[in-house]
Amino acid sequence: MGEFSGKTVVVTGSSGIGLGAALHFAREGATVFACGNDPAHNAAARDAAGELPLTVAEVDVSDETQVEKWITGIGNARGSVDCLVNAAAIQTYGTTETTDIEHWNRVIGINLTSYFLTSHFAYPFMKAAGGGAIVHVSSVQGHANQNAVLAYATSKGAIHAMVRAQAVDAAKDNIRVNSISPGSVRTPLLEFAARTVVGETGDIEEAIAGFGAAHPIGRVGTVEETSALIAFLCSDKAGFCTGGDYLIDGGLTAGIGV
Ligand SMILES: NC(=O)c1ccc[n+]([C@@H]2O[C@H](COP(=O)([O-])OP(=O)(O)OC[C@H]3O[C@@H](n4cnc5c(N)ncnc54)[C@H](O)[C@@H]3O)[C@@H](O)[C@H]2O)c1
Repeated sequence: MGEFSGKTVVVTGSSGIGLGAALHFAREGATVFACGNDPAHNAAARDAAGELPLTVAEVDVSDETQVEKWITGIGNARGSVDCLVNAAAIQTYGTTETTDIEHWNRVIGINLTSYFLTSHFAYPFMKAAGGGAIVHVSSVQGHANQNAVLAYATSKGAIHAMVRAQAVDAAKDNIRVNSISPGSVRTPLLEFAARTVVGETGDIEEAIAGFGAAHPIGRVGTVEETSALIAFLCSDKAGFCTGGDYLIDGGLTAGIGV
């Protein structure tokens, strides 16, 4: 018997923070459904799950039809969706000058619209079950940002407004909605960011150590740390938490960097 025994949990993202959360819920007794659009991530996630009750599907979260089919299928088969965690996203680089509409729409579609779509299709199942919890993974870049992350930072900041709007409306149905805003956390996405910094032949470990040094705690975070916060926000212990964003950033946004 774990903390989430009997619960049905839906997670987008099949690597990094999403996979970490999915494994955490499965170890705590939940029946977990994760998805991603990268077959290599999905295969690695299935390997990591082993015998745990974690099913990984290939879904493009920016495609309304695919999201509806995936979540409605889970809800109908299980009779409920108790917790929804949105972690699927891409990080891209571009300024107002260099971001074209195709780039913009892709990032907003994957990082923001998908969070709405999954919520929209999970909502009736949560409501019918008497309540639920939604956690959206945002970013410190929704609060303050690096250079040249126009579309990404916009998507992450908008999640904070989405959480407030959803939380206010959903409280009557006993559905709580929160977000977490991580600083740097060791995942494939962070490794991609490190590769962008050091180039094809550079040492990404050096770049990741450099990211860590920028955080007052002196290191990057782990998916075990983000999973613990996500699980807390989905649990009954967080019964009075809704409409909030929770920084998990090693103090990064507490400083002013000079
Ligand atoms: N790692 C960090 O330092 C960091 C910091 C702040 C915020 N975040 C946020 O955490 C979340 C998880 O990121 P991560 O670091 O675990 O990275 P990640 O790349 O490991 O995970 C993102 C996942 O999203 C999936 N994905 C991308 N596009 C998709 C699509 N169209 N359909 C379905 N799945 C898709 C990828 O396959 C991948 O599994 C993201 O929302 C990211 O913005 C990460």
